[in-house]
Amino acid sequence: MSQRTLVLLKPDAVRRGLAGEIISRIERKAGWQLTAVELRTFDRETLEHHYAEHVGRPFYEPLLEFMTSGPSIAMIVEGEEVVKGIRMLAGATNPLEAGSGTIRGDYATITRENLIHASDSPESAEREIKIFFPAHA
Ligand code: PPS
Repeated sequence: MSQRTLVLLKPDAVRRGLAGEIISRIERKAGWQLTAVELRTFDRETLEHHYAEHVGRPFYEPLLEFMTSGPSIAMIVEGEEVVKGIRMLAGATNPLEAGSGTIRGDYATITRENLIHASDSPESAEREIKIFFPAHA
């Protein structure tokens, strides 16, 4: 089923020059397309909205501090089963538990700097697209 999802290449991905490699992996997947892309340093308000479900968790403040530390790349990706597909491509949240061949498994070591966010369901994708790309909602 064709779907769309919201992907963020986090500040570590941009800082480390891994954005091209990650985008390339997404683009090469048959039937997937980038339909919106923006490089931006997100403000705290945007991220509070995005990560609202995690308020109060021990990782919440470190996550927001990290996510405001430099530019990220926000993207909408469309295609067949893209929500689950990009989560699989990203690998487990903790890079040490992420499989070889996944983005986090290949390039990250600590959970805070795990390179990529991808929506966890089609419903989350629509909610998150509204936050980062209101014109595409
Ligand atoms: S949960 O409990 O399953 O809902 O949470 P989880 O999906 O594992 O994590 C939610 C987001 O928090 C990030 N995270 C962290 N950031 C910084 N430091 C620490 N220690 C940390 N632990 C988890 C995690 O990468 C998720 O962010 P996104 O952007 O969704 O990947």
